[in-house]
Amino acid sequence: MKKAILLTLFLSLVIAGESKPVHKANVPQLGKNSIDEVLKAMTLQEKAELLVGGDYEVVNGKKGPVLPEAKIGAAGMTKAIPRLGIPCTVLTDGPAGVRISPTRKGDSRTYYATGNPIGTLVASSWDTQCARAVGRNMGNEVLEYGCDVLLAPGMCLHRNPLCGRNFEYFSEDPVLSGTMSGNEILGIQSNGVGTSAKHFVCNNQETYRTQNNSIVSQRALRELYLKNFELAIRIGNPWTIMSSYNLLNGPYTQADKPLLHDWLRGEVGYKGMVMTDWTERRNTVEQVNAENDLMEWGLDVQVQDIINAVKDGKLSIDVVNRNVRNLLNYIVKTPHFRHYKASDAPDLKAHAAVAREMAAQGIILLKNREGTLPLVQGQKIALFGIGSYKGFLANGFGSGDVNKPYVVNIFKGLENAGYQVDPDMAELYEDADADINIGPSYARHRASVDNVAIMTIRRNSGEGSDRRNEPGDWKLSPAELNTMKNIADAFHAQGKKLIVILNIGGVIETTSWKNIPDAILLPWQPGEEGGNAIADVISGKVCPSGHLPMTFPLAYEDVPSSKNFPQNDNGGVFDKDKSTIGFTKYDEGIWVGYRYFDTFDKPVSYPFGYGLSYTTFSFSNLKVRYGREVCKAVVTVTNTGKVAGKEVAQLYVSAPKGALEKPKKELRAFAKTRTLQPGESQTLTMTFRTMDMASFNENTNSWVLDPGVYQVKAGQSVEDIKATAPMKISKGVQKKVLAVI
Ligand code: BGC
Repeated sequence: MKKAILLTLFLSLVIAGESKPVHKANVPQLGKNSIDEVLKAMTLQEKAELLVGGDYEVVNGKKGPVLPEAKIGAAGMTKAIPRLGIPCTVLTDGPAGVRISPTRKGDSRTYYATGNPIGTLVASSWDTQCARAVGRNMGNEVLEYGCDVLLAPGMCLHRNPLCGRNFEYFSEDPVLSGTMSGNEILGIQSNGVGTSAKHFVCNNQETYRTQNNSIVSQRALRELYLKNFELAIRIGNPWTIMSSYNLLNGPYTQADKPLLHDWLRGEVGYKGMVMTDWTERRNTVEQVNAENDLMEWGLDVQVQDIINAVKDGKLSIDVVNRNVRNLLNYIVKTPHFRHYKASDAPDLKAHAAVAREMAAQGIILLKNREGTLPLVQGQKIALFGIGSYKGFLANGFGSGDVNKPYVVNIFKGLENAGYQVDPDMAELYEDADADINIGPSYARHRASVDNVAIMTIRRNSGEGSDRRNEPGDWKLSPAELNTMKNIADAFHAQGKKLIVILNIGGVIETTSWKNIPDAILLPWQPGEEGGNAIADVISGKVCPSGHLPMTFPLAYEDVPSSKNFPQNDNGGVFDKDKSTIGFTKYDEGIWVGYRYFDTFDKPVSYPFGYGLSYTTFSFSNLKVRYGREVCKAVVTVTNTGKVAGKEVAQLYVSAPKGALEKPKKELRAFAKTRTLQPGESQTLTMTFRTMDMASFNENTNSWVLDPGVYQVKAGQSVEDIKATAPMKISKGVQKKVLAVI
């Protein structure tokens, strides 16, 4: 009888391809033994447990004693298997800094993390060193707060200006987004912690984000959305990638084998681990098959799904083992595996200094009539807008938020810089609950006692909803417009000036009002030190060198994707009762952002790459060299103005005519100078892969590099080209690919 039971047990374990858990002293241990040996010793239950992660509360609630790691209150965890020396690991948001709980049970301390500038600002610096520095800041706090992976960077392309999470993301262009996020990944991971580049892929809206099918052509996918991730992987090699909530051309991305296995692992050669975004139970078996290794937030029922599917022969144990191996390869790199003793005391002061310096690098000067800025000291400032005071936004909301120790608003920043800000106004706005509609008489009063006016316009957005094409969001509200006009009229009547500051997370309409103020400064949402960084630019301590990472159109309706970007009635909040899957057709194909406006000669308010400075620059000696693998360009940038400053060289390429219609020009590389003194020059070198100039032919499923003369152009924006050099490619290339996504 006993024998029969043992035999049945043995047979069921053999069928499942598993061994019984053994608690011997010589049981393989991760780190001491090879991953293969550990894998061999794992039971099916243990393997399934590892593939299904856990919300920190769930892991602890259901798995016995509370793990000390759970007290951190991060977004999620992977489970520990102590028997095999496998530790738990901790996954924390997000793109502007570490998002852990401010409080812990039985602990009176409040835990703060640095509020770094948002992704869009980092992209606006066009400075890979800036991205690395912000990354280093964040990565160190991941390490010192006892976490293993930062769920960042957020790197969906800005397909449409109204996506509620655009502030977390970098750009409308894959080269700028992929390069900057790749460098941020390098910075984060230089601390020996990981990243999760997200959300992979085509999660370009928040409306019905968990139920929406993005219908995208193979060409747009290849040339834009996948290219973005491919570049980031090539540069930064993130430890993990987060598949997105949405569906892509049919399946959920997390269950999309052509995407996660064939393209990501097969074509790109990515060796890391893939985790889901934080979803409920979906198609467990399909996810495992697709090589989506980790399921977050992770439910016990998913563990059971895996066990049952293997036992029923619906899921191959080899596939399970492949994913478990991906997990183990990740775990052996983590601080938890290294037994790193987190200090819980990162150097927040030093990180704040970095956050300030980097924020200033990405602030964009959009307008500066008659040298309004920089602002000389000794003037009394009338500071308008609740966004200058308590309404100032360091970042947007949702998982891109950070529990910051403080936020320096514009009022404080100007005061710190030694400016005299009218105290009456500070009092007025500190008492207000909302923005104030300023009438002509009050504006006139201010213009009679103050020397210059600054008005801040703020916009907040975040996870779970998209922005609206309405006054108060995309457009100025009637009160904002009225206030701006009244202030401008009153101050101009006295020969005084108005500066507008845009404390926003995404593009707004500027056409109808940009003629009113004398200067416009775009600091986005610049993090906890934002007010100081803005004051650094206003005072001229920092010469502005940011450039737009996206286009500011004349009107929202000019954006091709405005035709099919959802503006649903419930503001984009996920409606649980809705059983149908929504969809968004990316009918604009590759005509996203400047690719559309530039190619079809559509006027814009501010073009991609645009940004002014307090000084001027010339570009000379552009030289290009074709190489079969890599092309190289050098250009000399000279400061021709009167103050020291930095400049970005943007390298666009116009491809010759071929069978496919192509954008007039596309960004292929960029570089930023160091601070150049007046008269000083620097020669910048830029390289890019030759095949990155190819277009994707979806009929033949191949990349096509046409022969002919390519015009390589260096400029200060997509519309402002300073130097052009031809580059001949005598032999075309056609490269077939396998994956169809
Ligand atoms: C967001 C992710 C985030 C995760 C964990 C999700 O709702 O989309 O960006 O990393 O939650 O907090």
